[in-house]
Amino acid sequence: MNESSIIASYNGKSLPLTEVFAPVLDRAFMFSDAVYEVLRVYKGKPFLLSAHTTRLQASLRSMRIAANQDFGDAILNNIAENQVKEGMVYLQISRGVAPRNHSFFAMELKPSILIYTKPFLEHPAAKEQQTGIKGITHEDYRWGRCDIKTTNLLANCLIQTHANEMGAQEAILIRNGVVSEGTSSNVFIVKNGIFITPPKSTFILAGTRRQFLIDGLLAAGHSVIERQVEKTELFNADEIFISSTVKEVTSVVQLDQKPVGKGIVGPFAKLAQALLDDAILAMK
Ligand SMILES: Cc1ncc(COP(=O)(O)O)c(C=O)c1O
Repeated sequence: MNESSIIASYNGKSLPLTEVFAPVLDRAFMFSDAVYEVLRVYKGKPFLLSAHTTRLQASLRSMRIAANQDFGDAILNNIAENQVKEGMVYLQISRGVAPRNHSFFAMELKPSILIYTKPFLEHPAAKEQQTGIKGITHEDYRWGRCDIKTTNLLANCLIQTHANEMGAQEAILIRNGVVSEGTSSNVFIVKNGIFITPPKSTFILAGTRRQFLIDGLLAAGHSVIERQVEKTELFNADEIFISSTVKEVTSVVQLDQKPVGKGIVGPFAKLAQALLDDAILAMK
């Protein structure tokens, strides 16, 4: 896939992604002063669009970025412009361009808006979903507002890279002995048939798939508990899986080089993935 064939929308103008150049004084460049969303496109349509736009509005409010727009139409337009059937939308809104200064006090800035849709030639998680992935645990040293989906992901990038160096694909983050989330995913454990996931807080991003799965599992009559998960529980779990827009439901079959449960993709992860598959199949 050549990125130059992707049509981006940058501040309302359509142009090839590789020809979008942002000013260095954009606060996204100087301070990672921006929020973002990643949406999955199936059958030419965004999945869980309103969950994503609702979370985007919450991120914008928390960051005090004034972008008075819903973005739903802009997302749909960009998908159509790129004629993508299977892929992902990336949307980023920065506070705007201003002389470099930490404070944005009394600045009336115009947010910079980037949207692009990238086609997937194959399902990005298919292989990992089949085999499961290896995980490591890692101290969660991120800041205290992980509920805001900002582009300031340096800790996530460093920790994910460390996981890769250790031969793993994801790190499960631990703050004060309890599980927060993955570097780019939410975490579920399964014990005795009960799905357990950390509750929403400022230490995790409220994942769209996390909520979809909680609602869907409960509606299907399964037990789901949102509560603190101790690090030690990870090593006694029957199953661990991560959830995210791109990874959907992916089992962690090995953690810190020890097998999780039977060390294979388990029935409860498959059941959770089936809920997603059914919803995607039902998309019109
Ligand atoms: C830190 C973090 N937590 C959780 C998630 C999962 O969110 P979603 O299910 O909306 O993709 C992501 C997604 O990228 C993430 O970056």
